[in-house]
Amino acid sequence: MNNAKNAMKNLSNKHILVGVTGGIAAYKSVELVRRLREHGAEVQVVMTEGAKAFVTPLTFQAVSGQPVHGDLLDPTAEAGMGHIELARWADLVVVVPASANFMARFAHGMADDLLTTLCLATTARVVLAPAMNQQMWQHSATQSNAALLQQRGVTLWGPASGSQACGEVGPGRLLEVPDLLEHIANSFNTGLLAGIKMLITAGPTIEAIDPVRYFTNRSSGKMGYALAQAAAEAGAIVTLISGPTHLTPPAVHHFVAVTSALDMHQAVLDALPGQDIYVGAAAVADYRCENIAPHKLKKSDKDISLTLVRNPDIIAEVAKHSPHIYTVGFAAQTEDLDAQAKAKLVAKGLDMIAANVVGEGKGFQVDHNTLSVYWQGGQHTLPTMAKYPLACQLIQLIARNYETKR
Ligand SMILES: Cc1cc2nc3c(=O)[nH]c(=O)nc-3n(C[C@H](O)[C@H](O)[C@H](O)COP(=O)(O)O)c2cc1C
Repeated sequence: MNNAKNAMKNLSNKHILVGVTGGIAAYKSVELVRRLREHGAEVQVVMTEGAKAFVTPLTFQAVSGQPVHGDLLDPTAEAGMGHIELARWADLVVVVPASANFMARFAHGMADDLLTTLCLATTARVVLAPAMNQQMWQHSATQSNAALLQQRGVTLWGPASGSQACGEVGPGRLLEVPDLLEHIANSFNTGLLAGIKMLITAGPTIEAIDPVRYFTNRSSGKMGYALAQAAAEAGAIVTLISGPTHLTPPAVHHFVAVTSALDMHQAVLDALPGQDIYVGAAAVADYRCENIAPHKLKKSDKDISLTLVRNPDIIAEVAKHSPHIYTVGFAAQTEDLDAQAKAKLVAKGLDMIAANVVGEGKGFQVDHNTLSVYWQGGQHTLPTMAKYPLACQLIQLIARNYETKR
């Protein structure tokens, strides 16, 4: 029971795209959408034409709090949120209920409506909850479509067996809403890092000039927080040390809020013993004021200078003094990304580095990112996507390489 309750926390802030197709069970996905939102998920609904014969888009609009999507070739809908944007937005696509007709179209790679098109276009996991008359389900055409979809990595939840709306008894019932909800919540638990202790830093640091002034950088903390969430869902015991952000901390084992680079340095040293993996996603200021003025600096006609001194290089120190800890760094560069990232990997003695371009609307304070990941003897590029699915993919790479090193 507690486990089920904990798993529900996974739903918080998740982007769940619910596809609804033309089956008698379509009314049940109204309740599913409502329950997903109660648990903090953001939900977008995409309906097929068939689905609209069973439940009105207005009903889904009311429960999801978002306009419902249905048209692939409507120029106004495409301008608002096109199929590619929806496909990228989703952390998970669930089609509830999935009709025999939808399964056939998807199995054959058709892209003849919005739902089939975005199922082909998304990098998110796609799950179908089939519901249909038991003869339709058992027909060899439906069975071979189901098998083909599963071979291609699509997950099927259900159908359940029992009495059906048509009066028959057999396999073809939609799973009950609480079961679907639990499956969705659990689908974010990968168990890839079960029991592994992971220390993550995130966000910017703030360096004081005087009691009222400071300098900082444009890091929002979103990437580090997404990594902490993805690592916790992968079963890691996560400590997140964060500079000041506007974000709600994810459900991690231990959260430490810090302000300056020196605070972060101390917090990392305190938390380091016993850790297996260190991920330095914070944008730690390279410099701080040599002397923080004890009183507000007075304005005068003269120019003033501040002397800046080097802050500790936290990740380099971790890599040097704790070689048994698997260290993952980030390189935010405005130019010459690959060469700089590779040089940093070697110079700092890291196990892995994730490099991204920042500036000109990229990297900091945006919801999407692209990462080039390097390790000794390997490289992988993670294409542009939202920071949470990107974090999930980076966690998979870290887990794989950490295992290899171990
Ligand atoms: C009253 C009624 C109930 C239906 N229920 C189902 C159903 O539960 N599952 C199913 O696969 N098809 C069902 N169908 C058939 C689909 O609505 C039909 O195949 C439709 O083309 C599906 O379109 P879609 O897959 O694009 O949503 C039903 C049809 C009617 C008239």
